[in-house]
Amino acid sequence: MSDQRHVEAGPMGQHKTDKEYLATRQYRDASNLNARGSLHARFGTNPYPWFRWLFDQVLAIAPAEARILEVGCGPAGLWLENLDRLPSGWRVTLTDLSEGMVATARERLTAAGAPEGIFTIQTTDIESLPFADASFDVTIANHMLYHVPDQPKGLSELQRVLRPGGALLAATNGQDNMRELDDVLAGFISEQDKQWKASFRHPFKLENGPEQIAPFFDAIETLLFEDSLRVTDEDALLAYCLSIDIPSLREPAQQATLAARIHERMAAQGGVFTITKSVGSFIARARPEA
Ligand SMILES: C[S@@+](CC[C@H](N)C(=O)[O-])C[C@H]1O[C@@H](n2cnc3c(N)ncnc32)[C@H](O)[C@@H]1O
Repeated sequence: MSDQRHVEAGPMGQHKTDKEYLATRQYRDASNLNARGSLHARFGTNPYPWFRWLFDQVLAIAPAEARILEVGCGPAGLWLENLDRLPSGWRVTLTDLSEGMVATARERLTAAGAPEGIFTIQTTDIESLPFADASFDVTIANHMLYHVPDQPKGLSELQRVLRPGGALLAATNGQDNMRELDDVLAGFISEQDKQWKASFRHPFKLENGPEQIAPFFDAIETLLFEDSLRVTDEDALLAYCLSIDIPSLREPAQQATLAARIHERMAAQGGVFTITKSVGSFIARARPEA
């Protein structure tokens, strides 16, 4: 598969490729991700935060002295929410396709007082990692493999840079995640939008992840994060929907229609929009050398 697939025609406008779209529009900065993250943080029914849960797993798989790589790190949420329990013996390399995300990750870690000498942050595509073979003890891919056009290439890179016996932590969503919201949004997604979305959303879900990981890693374990949303703020829900950047919802009139649908549905349910979540992670081991 080519490195960057061209999208023939579609509502992406000036963005010629999927990766360009991701790096320069959807994830050009942290605002879209923040709108989605804040909905989960404010209205999640599990009082234990997602990033604390995920970090528990990093603590379980990484030795006290560990070299750790995160690909698609976004604005470094996993690290910002766990600076209070970051082992001093870890050396952490954070990478993302988007220069904007890398800049935000760097600024936020500095502003939060991250200890000197632990983090290295750089722009990097998972499909060609600029690191030597076996140079990490742990690799992390959190909610990003579904954006990678050549997933086998991405997974083989994560395997290549791991030492034999090192661990991969990959987090993603399941089939039913946010299904009630998807039902509302379905009326706003045209056939053309579906093709457009499919061009940068490649299935990597809790249900099919193990079969994609299995060619490269052993001992795959799946862990589920129990959660659901009880949303009581219509504006926050609308902001979440708009952050997905569905082309037809760039029209103000369509946005107003969506706001009215959300309002009707919440009013009919006593002011609460209940949403199913399906989210979790895989832990897998890099094969020992043959
Ligand atoms: C849904 S966000 C998740 C960010 C972060 N892991 C989190 O959970 O907050 C996906 C991230 O993957 C990055 N990304 C997409 N394709 C990538 C690629 N080919 N290589 C590296 N990063 C990529 C995006 O720029 C974005 O920051």
